[in-house]
Amino acid sequence: MKNLSENFYRLLHPKIVFFLTSVGKNGRINVMSCAWATPASEEPPKIIVCVSKEHYTAELILETGEFAINIPQKSMEKAIWICGSKSGRKADKFKEAGLKIFKAHTISAPLIEGCIGFLECKVQSAIDAGECYAFLADVLKSSVEEKYFVKNLWISESVPMHLGGRKIVYF
Ligand SMILES: Cc1cc2nc3c(=O)[nH]c(=O)nc-3n(C[C@H](O)[C@H](O)[C@H](O)COP(=O)(O)O)c2cc1C
Repeated sequence: MKNLSENFYRLLHPKIVFFLTSVGKNGRINVMSCAWATPASEEPPKIIVCVSKEHYTAELILETGEFAINIPQKSMEKAIWICGSKSGRKADKFKEAGLKIFKAHTISAPLIEGCIGFLECKVQSAIDAGECYAFLADVLKSSVEEKYFVKNLWISESVPMHLGGRKIVYF
């Protein structure tokens, strides 16, 4: 058996990659690519998202406790790499990645046009998880583009999955 040491987490990949949108207390908005998320409870609906403490996104989420998960479609892969390699502290990633936003139903963090699945979330607690905060959050609203999600299943080849490193495949 090979010892994986620092790459242990790759055993839990591939993971769906999504745009994590956030808002700060004075209305500053941001988007980052993210893959470390999991359902945490069905009833009540809760998820956990893990965000590095150094990311601008973590700073904004700590300020307002709000974020949204936006699941992209295949054509958005370039935007995934842009939003996953620059910080919103220095760049307007919506503009650089060509992403347009629209208003969410329950939170003030924005949603991204063209995405095919959305979760609007409110943080219950920010857990110190080492280099990351694990944000345990209530899912206030969830919606999906029906064309891509039939009988509660993703249609194959629609959802980007992060294998790790610079590799994305479509499940
Ligand atoms: C495919 C992909 C998945 C990523 N997943 C995560 C993740 O789960 N958690 C995290 O903290 N950073 C993740 N990142 C890195 C952040 O997206 C990246 O560091 C980003 O520049 C942070 O932006 P911000 O400073 O504007 O918040 C991922 C990057 C890519 C390309």
